[in-house]
Amino acid sequence: MTVHFIGAGPGAADLLTLRGRDLIAGSPVCLYAGSLVPEAILGHCPADARIVNTAPMDLDAIISEIATAHQKGLDVARLHSGDLSVWSAMGEQIRRLKALNIPFTVTPGVPSFAAAAASLGQELTLPGLSQSVVLTRTQGRASSMPDGETLSGFGATGATLALHLSIGKLARVVAELTPHYGPDCPVAVVFRATWPDERIIRATLATIGREMDPSVTRTALIFVGPAVSGEGFQESCLYSADYDRRYRPQTAESPWSEWKHGDD
Ligand SMILES: C[S@@+](CC[C@H](N)C(=O)[O-])C[C@H]1O[C@@H](n2cnc3c(N)ncnc32)[C@H](O)[C@@H]1O
Repeated sequence: MTVHFIGAGPGAADLLTLRGRDLIAGSPVCLYAGSLVPEAILGHCPADARIVNTAPMDLDAIISEIATAHQKGLDVARLHSGDLSVWSAMGEQIRRLKALNIPFTVTPGVPSFAAAAASLGQELTLPGLSQSVVLTRTQGRASSMPDGETLSGFGATGATLALHLSIGKLARVVAELTPHYGPDCPVAVVFRATWPDERIIRATLATIGREMDPSVTRTALIFVGPAVSGEGFQESCLYSADYDRRYRPQTAESPWSEWKHGDD
């Protein structure tokens, strides 16, 4: 018996890995985080699967469901939205499973920041503007922020910020980031990326407050940083015609020529 943690993706039912789909199909028990996991994905469960929405459950009740499946020798598909590496609450479940000697696997999913960037049709790292993306959030009721992880500190880097779980704190985000990025810095808010009711709001730090639809109160990504404009960047060296590189040596004397004709 194994618990399979599976990233269920950002919303669209077809943004699920083939591995995730097959594990769901092979697991007689499915526990899913119903607040964000799309119900259509549950269509991959076996017809007689036990399907449990864990949104109203606490950690003890979730582990009790898993322990019961373990006693019966039944595999469990454990679905969380997006990818499991960020804000999935997988860590605390794994700690309990290890204590109970229950085996588990982890199958990644499409994270919401990547889905939202795709909806914008943009790359978040653009040469000359930003080469880093900070995945972060503002403090919420359920989670405090470590002292060193401040918006102001991240803002001082000038990186592209992808702010999760923060749409309700937009005014604070603007106030803390404007001194670092300036009022004209581009901002994009993507609400429910890849869901049928997806919406995109583009503005600047100075204007996002009035451009924002007040009905957007959750499930949104806020991108801030110069790269969010998608303009004014340099071309990368990667495809530059005169750039000497491993896959395209420019001369016979290139250090890459030998590698190209070597064993690799
Ligand atoms: C509990 S976190 C889950 C993050 C998830 N594990 C991931 O990989 O993206 C929920 C937050 O992720 C973001 N989010 C999740 N799905 C989203 C979507 N489809 N569109 C925009 N933001 C989304 C929002 O900021 C939301 O408040």
